[in-house]
Amino acid sequence: MKGIILCAGRGTRLKPITDSIPKTLLPIANKTILDRCIDQLFDVGIHEIAVVINPSQHQIVEHLQQHPSQKNISILYQEKALGILHAMFQAQSFIGKDDFVMLLGDNVFSGSLLPLIQSFHGNQGAIYLSKVKNPQEYGIAEVKENQIISLEEKPKSPKSNLAVIGVYVFHSTIFETQKVIGLSPRGEYEITDAIQWLINQGYPVAFTITDEWFMDVGTPERWLLSNLKLLEMELGTKINVSDGTWIENCTLIGPVIIGEKCRLTNTIIGPYVSIQDGSELYNCVIENSIVGNNVNLREETIHHSIFVYNNRFEVRHGGRHND
Ligand code: G1P
Repeated sequence: MKGIILCAGRGTRLKPITDSIPKTLLPIANKTILDRCIDQLFDVGIHEIAVVINPSQHQIVEHLQQHPSQKNISILYQEKALGILHAMFQAQSFIGKDDFVMLLGDNVFSGSLLPLIQSFHGNQGAIYLSKVKNPQEYGIAEVKENQIISLEEKPKSPKSNLAVIGVYVFHSTIFETQKVIGLSPRGEYEITDAIQWLINQGYPVAFTITDEWFMDVGTPERWLLSNLKLLEMELGTKINVSDGTWIENCTLIGPVIIGEKCRLTNTIIGPYVSIQDGSELYNCVIENSIVGNNVNLREETIHHSIFVYNNRFEVRHGGRHND
């Protein structure tokens, strides 16, 4: 089985942050979304991975060149922003006749891929579904007698609250849709249309309803919320400080993660704070925030904020809620 991670999205709802950094490289609890996807594939024994990017995303290429498993990872290009299915088509020769897992490089899923892969055996596809409160924002499945009957992309009148969460397993048959699927009303080749085609052909598609946490990290609010959630899941109330970081006269309230070579003085940090490498904070109070690499902060009281490249983005609804 192979793995593909789709990262070519333009990240328009995260502008101007995504002008300097592609969405998949956003750090969540100090680990990029892309590295989280790669680790999830490795965890189930998938070591042949392709990452689909758009030609302007040179930072992803540089990031992968530094990756400890770079020899397992190929880079493929999607020249035009024509949707998830179109991005998948770019991986056809990489996949060949193999089965594959497909992940969206801007989605975080806290569960394992294993139950889904197990449910795939004997089917042409398998997808995770999750109950959501806002079904109009997702691909939605209608399920009857343990079968998916229909899938609809962002329906105005949803037939259920079961959302496709962006974690898929497919047999290579899915590439046959290249000949038959047209552009959707929003101008994209939709993965939901391709899965619907499989169902219409009588090819079985398995599904598993998951309670694990997931998030499409499409906005600053969701980025901050993902950071909070993963800090909570991964650290509990612990404090994680990397090598070469100097902390003097500070109070740290976990969960907090601090990268390498930071300098923190007279500062109260936490809970729910991640600080990347090389940042300096002096006389600050900082809670529920993301601080990027090499950020300098002095005499600031901050909550619900993101600092990257010394720019501050205040997030109005970045607190805890039941999303
Ligand atoms: C995409 C898929 C949709 C799925 C969602 C999960 O939506 O098209 O079916 O439910 O990811 O995050 P998009 O990110 O293109 O809005």
